[in-house]
Amino acid sequence: MEGDYVLKDAGETQALGQSFGAQVTAPAVIHLQGDLGAGKTTFIQGFVRGLGADAAVLSPTYTLVEEYTTEKGQVHHLDLYRISGPDEVESLGLRDRCGPDDFVLIEWPDRGGDAVPTSTWTVSLEYLDAGRSASIVKT
Ligand SMILES: Nc1ncnc2c1ncn2[C@@H]1O[C@H](COP(=O)(O)OP(=O)(O)O)[C@@H](O)[C@H]1O
Ligand SMILES: [Mg+2]
Repeated sequence: MEGDYVLKDAGETQALGQSFGAQVTAPAVIHLQGDLGAGKTTFIQGFVRGLGADAAVLSPTYTLVEEYTTEKGQVHHLDLYRISGPDEVESLGLRDRCGPDDFVLIEWPDRGGDAVPTSTWTVSLEYLDAGRSASIVKT
């Protein structure tokens, strides 16, 4: 799954997330890098589908975390964009979310400071013309 990809539209971002989700195994901590609107949540929508769940993935921009139960394990989708400080990160119980059957996906991981678990994968998304480019790196 490691590599560089060109994603012409949102459907391609979702498809990449889906094939990644179908191949990755738990435990996994996946950091999603990229500006606002780069496609991080779109990738995760596909990812959850790739794990076999038929869930509507909503952005946890305000809720900070959303969870999905799948046959392959529990998905914890975090978005730290609006995190207010270390206390709020602490309240998310990140360490307890990193069990052997857990997939932890974190948008804006750098905003969480030291409390954010180290990544096993990093997905980076960037604007490219009308679409996006993506890279997936095992870390
Ligand atoms: N490859 C792509 N090309 C064009 N638009 C895309 C692509 N991937 C996602 N988008 C669109 O970009 C917008 C923002 O996506 P989103 O996943 O919410 O970004 P983020 O979570 O990084 O802020 C959405 O309207 C989505 O459909
Ligand atoms: Mg998002």
